[in-house]
Amino acid sequence: MQIQLQHVSARHPAAKDDSVPALRDATIQIQQGEQVAVIGPSGAGKTTFLHAVACALKPASGQLALSGQDPWKLPRSALQALRGQLFLAPQVPPLPPRQRVVTTVLAGRLPQMGFLHSLRSLFYPLDIPAAHAALKAFDLDKKIFERVDRLSGGERQRVGLARLLASDAKLWLIDEPLSALDPTRATQALEVLTRACRERGATLVCTLHQVERALEAFPRIIGLRHGEVAFDLPSGEVSRERLTALYAQHEHELFGPAPVNEFPEQNVQLGQPAVMHCR
Ligand SMILES: Nc1ncnc2c1ncn2[C@@H]1O[C@H](COP(=O)(O)OP(=O)(O)OP(=O)(O)O)[C@@H](O)[C@H]1O
Ligand SMILES: [Mg+2]
Repeated sequence: MQIQLQHVSARHPAAKDDSVPALRDATIQIQQGEQVAVIGPSGAGKTTFLHAVACALKPASGQLALSGQDPWKLPRSALQALRGQLFLAPQVPPLPPRQRVVTTVLAGRLPQMGFLHSLRSLFYPLDIPAAHAALKAFDLDKKIFERVDRLSGGERQRVGLARLLASDAKLWLIDEPLSALDPTRATQALEVLTRACRERGATLVCTLHQVERALEAFPRIIGLRHGEVAFDLPSGEVSRERLTALYAQHEHELFGPAPVNEFPEQNVQLGQPAVMHCR
């Protein structure tokens, strides 16, 4: 799915109407099948940007187009159909506590199902092999019949990603997918997501705090600062100077503390960019 923003500004629904928008005057084009990471310090507007693209948040001004259509000018049913083609994976997936993992994962397919079919699948998981395959990609297949409230934070985050993998969305919008994952799982998760997305020809936009990983895994990087696009570049052109300017006054987010022997093989020296930075 192609994304076009023309001078889009947007603010959180809870923000006052006269407050400075969290996303300001953003003009961005993302072609179908592209993989883009969005980075920037906390409060830069990354989640707001994702929510605006996901049609979860109506722009305060400017034009948004998905596959050439302004979603907010579509009739309600067409807007719902469009939302069914995209998948917004929040940082903390809203997983119903007592639900089995298999049901949660297959819920990723609900937007593509008819009402009766989806209702039935909530009570009787209909495509267990599909849930199994999605979970296996994240080494979670053994947890398929576990209750989600008995999973660790990292497992829950990976179940949220497996749910995305089980969907057939054409636009993947993923907010901080690695925040609860250790370095090995983080690498695995990014590999799974970028490979699957590429194989399906879907478009991937992913916010990340781990700048090093963003540069490694994504060919294009958008840097947001104070709600504005500070740069939009191929990852090979994102210099240290640009990153330093992007994270000015937030250096701790760029140069996280060196991990202390928790993952000895990943240890880095103080003052060097940390390989992994979880908030
Ligand atoms: N619940 C809220 N109520 C009012 N304003 C909000 C709310 N959430 C966010 N905002 C405003 O939107 C701005 C951008 O928030 P957003 O969540 O998009 O940033 P972010 O880059 O995703 O940050 P983080 O890295 O911490 O997730 C905030 O600085 C704040 O001004
Ligand atoms: Mg955020």
